[in-house]
Amino acid sequence: MNRTPKKSYLLLAGLVLSLSLTSSLAFSADGKTLYEDKGCTGCHGEDAKTPLEKGYPKLAGQNGGYLLQQLMDIKSGARKNGKIPDTMKPVIDELSEPELKLLADYLAGLKWASQGTPPDAAPPGKKLYLTKSCVACHGKEGMKPIMKTYPFLAGQDRTYLLAQMKDIGSKARENGLSNSMQPVMHLVNKKEMDAIAKYLSLVK
Ligand code: HEC
Ligand code: HEC
Repeated sequence: MNRTPKKSYLLLAGLVLSLSLTSSLAFSADGKTLYEDKGCTGCHGEDAKTPLEKGYPKLAGQNGGYLLQQLMDIKSGARKNGKIPDTMKPVIDELSEPELKLLADYLAGLKWASQGTPPDAAPPGKKLYLTKSCVACHGKEGMKPIMKTYPFLAGQDRTYLLAQMKDIGSKARENGLSNSMQPVMHLVNKKEMDAIAKYLSLVK
């Protein structure tokens, strides 16, 4: 009995299959490559914590659940506040959901820009942060969000922080879980928001 042809055919098929699996995994399993190839570096910085301009957020080490939610919402159009339509939307539109997941996982795995060390002389915004309920959800120094889907704020770009507070307050941003924060925003006026943004951006 000669079974060699069949066996070698099977072996060959197996080899082809495993090669193609390996190469597609090698391509898709790399959030870092996607982050570089899709141009994210141009606006958020190579290390994802050196944004190009004021008003652009730091992403490195942000909560994974939160990041994925934002990316999905930008893609679906649910988040369309501020600079999103002109900057992020066109880039994200080209990416698939599995690619967004890889990007979120990659970014969440990096080190967050701040270690949660309070600024030397506590600026006035700190007291507001503690008394206007922010600390209940975003945690001490903006560094201990109570859920995976809540963002870190410590050390974030000041202009970006202020813009998001205003937009969540006015409902220009109402994607994701922003409706849990929206009801407390009447507790702070624009000047107080600015003071809180300044304080949070100074957390080291
Ligand atoms: C042309 C500039 C630009 C490019 C390219 C860009 N972004 Fe952004 N991104 C922004 C700006 C600006 C914002 C904030 C917009 C606003 O709310 O006003 C933002 C917001 C985000 C947010 C939300 C952050 C938060 O704290 O809610 C995430 C996540 C994000 N970008 C990820 C990415 C990823 C991943 C890529 C690459 C696939 C990318 N961005 C490419 C400019 C850019
Ligand atoms: C009840 C919980 C809750 C309270 C209280 C709260 N927040 Fe939030 N905050 C959230 C959630 C949840 C999000 C993310 C919304 C989303 O899913 O898009 C958020 C988002 C933000 C963002 C945008 C972050 C980013 O990366 O885009 C800022 C800035 C912020 N909060 C500041 C504050 C400040 C300042 C206060 C106090 C005046 C406050 N929050 C009170 C839950 C809360």
